[in-house]
Amino acid sequence: MTSRLDGPLKVTGQAKYGADNNFPGMAYGYVVLSTIAHGEIAAMDVTAANSAPGVIGVYSPFDPLELRRPSSPLFGETWVPLQDKEVTYYGQPIGFVVAETFEQARDAAMLIEVAYHQRPALTSLEDGLASAEDAPPVAREEPPSLEVLADGVESIEDALAASPVVVEATYTTATQNHAAMEPHSAVAVWDADGLTVYSGNQGANLQAAELAAALDVDPASVHSVNPFVGGAFGGKARTSAPAFLAAAAAKALDRPVKAALTREQVFSATAGRAATLQKILLGADTDGTLIALRHDSWCSTAADRSFVEPTSHGTSREWYATQNLAISQKMVPLNIPPTTFMRAPGEAPGSFALESAIDELAVRLNMDPIELRMRNNSTAPPGKDLQWSSKHLDECFRIGAERFGWANRSPQGHTDGDWLVGLGTATAMFPALRFPATVEVVLQADDTAVVSTSGADPGTGLLTVLSLVGAESLDISPEKITPRLGDSAFPPGGMSGGSTGTASAGTAIMIAAATAIDDLLALASSPGAPFDGMEVSYADGRVLAEGQSMTFGEVLRAVNRSSLSATGSSAPGEEMTKHSFSSFGAQFCEVRVHRWTREARVSRMLGVFDAGRIINDKAARSQIIGGMIWGVSAALHEGLEIEENGRLANGDFAGYLLPVNADIPDVGVHFVQYPDTLHNAVGARGLGEIGTVGMAAAVANAVYNATGIRVRNIPIVIEDLLD
Ligand code: MOS
Repeated sequence: MTSRLDGPLKVTGQAKYGADNNFPGMAYGYVVLSTIAHGEIAAMDVTAANSAPGVIGVYSPFDPLELRRPSSPLFGETWVPLQDKEVTYYGQPIGFVVAETFEQARDAAMLIEVAYHQRPALTSLEDGLASAEDAPPVAREEPPSLEVLADGVESIEDALAASPVVVEATYTTATQNHAAMEPHSAVAVWDADGLTVYSGNQGANLQAAELAAALDVDPASVHSVNPFVGGAFGGKARTSAPAFLAAAAAKALDRPVKAALTREQVFSATAGRAATLQKILLGADTDGTLIALRHDSWCSTAADRSFVEPTSHGTSREWYATQNLAISQKMVPLNIPPTTFMRAPGEAPGSFALESAIDELAVRLNMDPIELRMRNNSTAPPGKDLQWSSKHLDECFRIGAERFGWANRSPQGHTDGDWLVGLGTATAMFPALRFPATVEVVLQADDTAVVSTSGADPGTGLLTVLSLVGAESLDISPEKITPRLGDSAFPPGGMSGGSTGTASAGTAIMIAAATAIDDLLALASSPGAPFDGMEVSYADGRVLAEGQSMTFGEVLRAVNRSSLSATGSSAPGEEMTKHSFSSFGAQFCEVRVHRWTREARVSRMLGVFDAGRIINDKAARSQIIGGMIWGVSAALHEGLEIEENGRLANGDFAGYLLPVNADIPDVGVHFVQYPDTLHNAVGARGLGEIGTVGMAAAVANAVYNATGIRVRNIPIVIEDLLD
């Protein structure tokens, strides 16, 4: 149980986030956003802005900063602002005003007059789907459909028709914004060596590469620094508009430039989560055995179709044993802000649909929903013969049911005064992934060690993990480790995304530490060294031989070395061809719906997770608690309302509902710990995202248990619960 090393700095305000950096001569940029959803900018009158007090530069598609579209192997091509006059959503960056102060830049931005050639805009998933019927190519299929059929079965329709019990339902989920505490911002400084950019991001080396490509400069000349990131959740995986604009303007003006989105601008000028519509068909035998599962999804996407929310692929492809499976995934391009990764992309909204449908099937079969899930527990994803490396979902449900008092649940819920009380459950799964990562371990003459990699800690606890895994690998205490993250000058550490940080960096640390120890032993027994020619070994931070020992620092000092450095790299490999890998969990919640006001309150929550070995119980618990709260938020609070003209009606913290303390009860978290060394040497699987998976369904299932009302859209609002 280790508290976060960066915790005290953060809570005392000493942590320096991107926009906290200031430089002499620094100018301030303000991003100008479009006020139509679709069309072409006909003209921008910037005369008044240009002559406003303090203004240094006004940039627009008519007078752009030069930026190229970067392309990265991980993400594909990225849109960059100001390079053409096309507007494809309301709130798109279309200009950048730089002035001596932030206020002057903002005031000048208000003076810009924009004329548009407006075109009709499609801004709702419903309208997009309707128009898709008229013009089929609009809904592009991506990723491709998948069908697995039992021998002798001709089609999924036949399998469903042959099923004694069929549940068919359509679910919808709202579009959301990551709403991280730190708005997207950047401070850009050029000097003789190139560009340094201070900007919260999920991977310093990836941001440096994107910026170098956008600016068409040598990647080695771009230095990205982000030791602290105020929340990311997928929303800072890509380089933000302020970072591109600040970097380009700082170059054009030869002055440091700071740019930050306002809270309201974050909602449209960054990417969010897609809205989805999901149709599920479950065919089962009367004993609950799944015979067929069909999951067809549609998700909103920006006009450039750059991102798909893989709901069907993220859930139904792998969650249950079924002989017949058909999934499809269609994108519906709309004139809305771009969509991107957001905590459990695919699994979060996908599990609302699948796990609600499983609950509906349990009701139809008059069967306990946990029993139904266990009856269809998979040993391998359907259609793939690679078994799960380690799966203890049954134990998660058993322990969870016991701790939560599931045995007392009635299929009709119960009442407590004026409150209708219900219990709900759902499965959570999230694939266990790794990214390539390289870590440097430096043994120092003062008996401390430095562990560094360019990856980010956007609140995940990765910094502390570096110190814990580093200490374990070097067999010294964690206080002797200085962990370093968030700097592209460090070895490439991959992205803090996809719940990969611990497995990726942790494995690389173990390799780097082993190399450092080997090199230390070779050094210690080399000619003239203290253990010259002896058979040496290493334990407890010391080199041992023939009954004598010295700390590694003593050895280094004895040979006049200040340090010894080694790097280690890890990447997914052969293990991927031998097993399937996933984290698992069982979500439980109790919901109270007021008999008269119909407000729904979550009153108890418990999640039991199988995520391999837990490195830091405290941080792991915090990650899961945060994720589960995200699930409650998706179920009862969050959703962007988009007006017909494409404007976000609630794109601010007054109108975009997020849970506050009063909305969240005590959250119970329990881990069953089975180290998964088939996946990686550390034995840890990801847990950053799985906490949110399944939770929205658990809430909706509890609402049904309490009220008998099945709500198939989230967020669930009072109107949904009127009798
Ligand atoms: Mo994330 S959605 O793991 O970047």
